[in-house]
Amino acid sequence: MNMDHLVSTAQITKEDFAELYRIAAYLEEELKRPGHQLSQLLADKIMATLFYEPSTRTRLSFESAMHRLGGRVISTENALSSSSAFKGETLEDTIRIISGYADVIVLRHPTVGSAEAAAKYSAVPTINAGDGAGEHPTQALLDLYTIQKVKGTLDGLRIAMAGDLMFSRTIHSLVKLLANYDVQFYFVAPESIRAPRDLLDLIEKKGKSFEEHDDLQNLVDKGIDILYQTRIQKERFVSEDAFQSVFGKQIVDKALMDKLPSECYILHPLPRYGDIDPAVDEDRRALYFQQAQNGVYVRMALLLKMFGISV
Ligand code: NCD
Repeated sequence: MNMDHLVSTAQITKEDFAELYRIAAYLEEELKRPGHQLSQLLADKIMATLFYEPSTRTRLSFESAMHRLGGRVISTENALSSSSAFKGETLEDTIRIISGYADVIVLRHPTVGSAEAAAKYSAVPTINAGDGAGEHPTQALLDLYTIQKVKGTLDGLRIAMAGDLMFSRTIHSLVKLLANYDVQFYFVAPESIRAPRDLLDLIEKKGKSFEEHDDLQNLVDKGIDILYQTRIQKERFVSEDAFQSVFGKQIVDKALMDKLPSECYILHPLPRYGDIDPAVDEDRRALYFQQAQNGVYVRMALLLKMFGISV
């Protein structure tokens, strides 16, 4: 993997992912071993987490990953109100300054393309932790890790994605990554938030196929291996009415689970918001909490790769 910055999953090859998978799986095991030496690996490094949008998992799992590798963290969790952005400082200037304080920057920002722009002004590696409705590459990496772990492969799978296909950056990044493999896609969304055309074009360009549906029930006889549910993202809608017209329509519940194949696993980037019934949590096919945990191993692996440290 030769990357200064991680902006999009389009940068990640199958070989890159195979390597990240190996390292993350190693770290997951190694962390359980008393006396491991992982906290020596990044002892001289500082990570800055610069978040202009809310986050629980992404920021804290990055920080946890850095701490577990012995690195240190400086952080702005509400950068819109608590950093100099509030005084009108541009992202460019902020990034220039922070890249003098840290060895890697993890950035979440509401504007599509902000991570790419930031990368141009940063003297240190910059990682896109979500740029508006654009991309969220590290989420896609941990999603792929979770799928490969449970299925043992990424080829020959039927993968359904449901919810906010238009605005979900986790979907955008995951589709780009999965399109490198032999995958059949199924998209389930109301008409107004269907997957963007350029994403569908990319799937076709890579010689893969997809079906589009507007009802989760249509999936039950498709032999689906993975159902990736997403939140309808209220904050990205232009009006309350537009949001209400699609909210709460397609829910993963026990009745649906009963009809899905016994080896069809449920993933979700979280937070869920009325899209998975908590009664599903006890089903062994509900993987979303494990998926969130995997974020620590995958982000540890990514940090090591970006710093050129091999294990
Ligand atoms: C997602 C995000 O921020 O894009 N959450 C996450 O990072 N795990 C999904 C969402 O907010 O719905």
